[in-house]
Amino acid sequence: MNALVVRRRLAAIFAHRRRAIARLLPQLRRTDTPLRVAVAGGSGFVGGAIVRELHSRGERVVVLSSRPASAAGHLPDDVETRHADVADPDSLASALEGVDALVISLAFPNSPMEPPRLGHAFEQVDAAGTERLVAAAMAAGVRRIACISGAGAAPYSTRPWFRAKWRAETAVKGSGIAYTIVRPTWLYGPDDVALNRSLGFAKWLPSVPLTGSGRRPLAPVSVDDVAGLVADALRADDARDQLFEIGGPDVLTMRDVVRTALRVAGLRRPLLPAPAALLKLAAWPLRLLPRPPLTPDAVDFVNQPATVDSAPLLARMPRRLTPLAEGLGTYLR
Ligand SMILES: NC(=O)c1ccc[n+]([C@@H]2O[C@H](COP(=O)([O-])OP(=O)(O)OC[C@H]3O[C@@H](n4cnc5c(N)ncnc54)[C@H](OP(=O)(O)O)[C@@H]3O)[C@@H](O)[C@H]2O)c1
Repeated sequence: MNALVVRRRLAAIFAHRRRAIARLLPQLRRTDTPLRVAVAGGSGFVGGAIVRELHSRGERVVVLSSRPASAAGHLPDDVETRHADVADPDSLASALEGVDALVISLAFPNSPMEPPRLGHAFEQVDAAGTERLVAAAMAAGVRRIACISGAGAAPYSTRPWFRAKWRAETAVKGSGIAYTIVRPTWLYGPDDVALNRSLGFAKWLPSVPLTGSGRRPLAPVSVDDVAGLVADALRADDARDQLFEIGGPDVLTMRDVVRTALRVAGLRRPLLPAPAALLKLAAWPLRLLPRPPLTPDAVDFVNQPATVDSAPLLARMPRRLTPLAEGLGTYLR
């Protein structure tokens, strides 16, 4: 064997070792003492992705749920579930026992369609529910909070959902607990409701209906990118007491988002935009149903623009944000 061959073989062996070490690094990091992280909303779309991410990093995850029996069926076996109803402060105190960090990812059932029985559900669940959770976290000695808010949260917005998110953020900021608030734009992922509904229509109908003109600008962000940010934020000093807006790298219209999803899923269907005013009129009587499929307010909710400036986040917590087609390709192909 000549010297060149020996050198090549040695180089190959070292390259192989380097790759093996790189693969092991995340597991080595897990030898840090795992955090016991409670995820309120861990049975939901966004919270569920956060649960999976934290679990894959070796954290000890506890899902807080108002219906723990049905939530447990969808979770890894070693994820604990505890009963916690944000309408019931007593349940929150016991649910947060021994918890190091709390993730808040709350939305009322069937959001954004406020049910008539629970009018002002944004205020009752997203806002007051977060306030109660934060108060319980303070009493329980929780050391870190990450809260999922929404792009556009503002105190005097005409939209009730933005005012509710502002109230939730205010509670988190005023808690004295180290916090990270995350304001995502419009999220997509294997378990989302919105885009999956459009794809469901595409399977059964000759065209895909759109709520409104579909021309609003969106920067869709992968739910896994948000989950990764939350998992990082619970441990990173750079994320302490920070509010981050996060959107995906592509700014598109809703039409383009649905077209991209159809293309990635291998479907060809024309889009059928429905005028927002007409939809609101049609939704007016539906709002009285116990679980309305659409309400006039929800038409406004889904038609709002959703873009943000992710540059401050990327400067402080550098990361790659997944392009839409790539993110969709991970579960639609
Ligand atoms: N989806 C998006 O595109 C998007 C975009 C920006 C921001 N966000 C924000 O992300 C957060 C999560 O949204 P999502 O889409 O994941 O909603 P989701 O799938 O409907 O999940 C909502 C979660 O809230 C929990 N919850 C509801 N009422 C509760 C109560 N009384 N007590 C305890 N938990 C309760 C539910 O848990 P149980 O039913 O198990 O109790 C559920 O896990 C929301 O704050 C939303 O505003 C979402």
